[in-house]
Amino acid sequence: MRIPLIAGNWKMYKDIDEAVELATSLKNVLKDAQSDKVEVAVCPPYIDLQAVGAVIKGSNIVLGAQNMYAAQEGAFTGEISPLMLRSVGCHYVIIGHSERRQYFCETNETINAKVKMALEYGLFPILCVGEKLDEREKGITNDIVKDHVVGGLKGIPKEKMASIVIAYEPVWAIGTGKTATPDQAQAVHKFIRETIASLYDAATAQSVRIQYGGSVKPDNAKTLMNMPDIDGALVGGAALKADSFEAIVKFYR
Ligand code: PGA
Repeated sequence: MRIPLIAGNWKMYKDIDEAVELATSLKNVLKDAQSDKVEVAVCPPYIDLQAVGAVIKGSNIVLGAQNMYAAQEGAFTGEISPLMLRSVGCHYVIIGHSERRQYFCETNETINAKVKMALEYGLFPILCVGEKLDEREKGITNDIVKDHVVGGLKGIPKEKMASIVIAYEPVWAIGTGKTATPDQAQAVHKFIRETIASLYDAATAQSVRIQYGGSVKPDNAKTLMNMPDIDGALVGGAALKADSFEAIVKFYR
């Protein structure tokens, strides 16, 4: 059975004090979240990782990062390595978010290198895929998503797939308040699972978790999560407040 993963992507929000405050509130309100129903992660900015990690230590919330560089160490000014993320207690790392593809020139190749390097250092990548509005309007959603999935997973052996989460995030739904309808999202999630089945096999495809992301809020979380191929959410805006994130995490109530 796939346990849904609800992960908060804090993006470039929250200084240390604000991050500690939010993490402390989350730790309190989520302490009764049922671990057999949901797994919870938070992905703060790099500089908050250590402080947030200290707050959530021993709780049912795990730590993730929003990005990494695909090298163990070296002269890469301004970058952070998977080893550093491990040393600060990260379990997950978001890779290939659409904002990284759009503003930081990330490509399937660089994203694939990061996925491989994350796995090598024991991190669990959350690989983001998704089409832009014009691509959906042109009717090429599946082509784009397939390109992201195949490109991101290139050379990843089947046994590593248990450590990978896919996040389907239609770019037109991110931060816009426009959510994909549950049926629209389900159709793409099913297609992603079929793509993974064709790359690996049916059992592997059935076991991979595929999150939905893009304007997930307390009022739409339940219907999205009830779709058969949606296994959790990657949450941006609504993850920045304890009450809205709590309501999303507890979608199963
Ligand atoms: P949003 O962001 O929930 O604010 O749309 C989601 C994301 O970018 O991961």
